[in-house]
Amino acid sequence: MQWQSSPYRCHVFVCVNDRQGARKSCADGGAVELGARLKERVRQHPGLQGCVRVSTCGCLGLCADGPNVLLHPPGRWCCGVGAGDLERVLAEIEACAGLRNGGGSAAGGEAS
Ligand code: FES
Repeated sequence: MQWQSSPYRCHVFVCVNDRQGARKSCADGGAVELGARLKERVRQHPGLQGCVRVSTCGCLGLCADGPNVLLHPPGRWCCGVGAGDLERVLAEIEACAGLRNGGGSAAGGEAS
């Protein structure tokens, strides 16, 4: 085993956990489609492709606030992300990747 630094300036985790209605989960809010759309947008973005990775993942632990997206670094959470929030999440990813000033608030501030 060996440790190494992340090859990405920002790694985006989109929870797509689906509990099939037994209890609230991010898939209830369209997280699967959100993850697919985010992956495609990052893949097509000349400033993000190769330095930002979007990965779908299992439960991140904040199920009641989902759908959840985690940007690491800097450890920013986007909670309650809906289909209409894609551009705001992308703006935050751009800030975290150093393409915008003021990373951490480029997406229009804290939760609305
Ligand atoms: S189901 Fe998404 S954070 Fe738990």
